[in-house]
Amino acid sequence: MSLPRSVKIVEVGPRDGLQNEKQLVPTAVKVELIERLADAGLQAVEATSFVSSKWVPQMGDNTEVMQNLRRKAGVAYPVLAPNLKGFDAAIEAGATEVAVFGAASEAFSQKNINCSVAESIKRFEPVICAALALDFKVRGYVSCVVGCPYEGAVAPEKVAEVAMRLFDMGCYEVSLGDTVGVGNPASVQRMIEACARHVPMKQLAGHYHDTYGMAIANIYASMELGMRVFDSSVAGLGGCPYAAGASGNVATEDVVYLLNGLGIETGIDMDKLLDAGQFILQHLGREPASKAAKALLAMRAGGCA
Ligand code: HMG
Ligand code: MG
Repeated sequence: MSLPRSVKIVEVGPRDGLQNEKQLVPTAVKVELIERLADAGLQAVEATSFVSSKWVPQMGDNTEVMQNLRRKAGVAYPVLAPNLKGFDAAIEAGATEVAVFGAASEAFSQKNINCSVAESIKRFEPVICAALALDFKVRGYVSCVVGCPYEGAVAPEKVAEVAMRLFDMGCYEVSLGDTVGVGNPASVQRMIEACARHVPMKQLAGHYHDTYGMAIANIYASMELGMRVFDSSVAGLGGCPYAAGASGNVATEDVVYLLNGLGIETGIDMDKLLDAGQFILQHLGREPASKAAKALLAMRAGGCA
């Protein structure tokens, strides 16, 4: 077992983190959050999603977010695009990387994107083709990789099948989403091993929600298998509108604290990351869900955490 020397973190706070917020967050606040995260050293910041605003009202300002963004060279700003309508709008707004999102569970697929898993794959095909024709990168998500809020446990083979379809269709990376955060190091490793039989490990990413507090352990277990890309959300914001009770993604601050401690490079400036977290939390009137952020902020304030 050897841990990687460097890890890429895909920051999903502005999309996965905010999509569940009931109060509409002003566009200017979203834009400043994205810019602060890029300034903190994140190489990829998922900026918004081009889904129906009837389904997810918080993402209704997707075009304005993309158009007002000051882009930093070398940073990717992927957006979700579930179908050609979303893809066309994303491109029109200036996106150059998109992500399609499917699931390993039929019930979740229906609740989340209103179609079966097989239908979703059919819808993704023209999106991926159109993106690749423009030389744009497409990321693929698989949700419910360990468990589903409606169907319970999900078989690793089912996850592997969807991951393989997305990869074979041209996704450069497949992000494995423990949407409800029920995974533990054993179940997550079993799931990754099944996927890695069909998709090269370096093209797999971990996207772990932290409902049961297992996400950091799951990242460590994933790195033991050779995974080196993880999604996380600043301050641990978020949840999924179609997975009631699920917590946000693992907090970016917690992941960076772990990786710093292990001597694994991320290129992220923890101080600037904490500032970005404080910025959005002050706006939302909330405390950080991240334990590392809480402790580091207490130290900053002169405490003894
Ligand atoms: P639908 O109702 O089946 O779509 O929704 P439709 O094709 O039948 O069209 C119905 C209406 O929606 C039409 O408008 C379309 O124009 C419009 P109307 O004629 O009624 O005025 N429409 C759209 N509008 C804007 N953008 C679009 C779009 N497509 C159709 N792209 C759809 C299908 C996928 C659009 C819908 O189900 C939807 O928007 N779902 C939202 C899903 C979502 O955002 N979920 C959260 C993100 S996924 C996630 O969080 C998981 C992840 O983090 C990984 C993990 O944690 O596991 C990625
Ligand atoms: Mg998610």
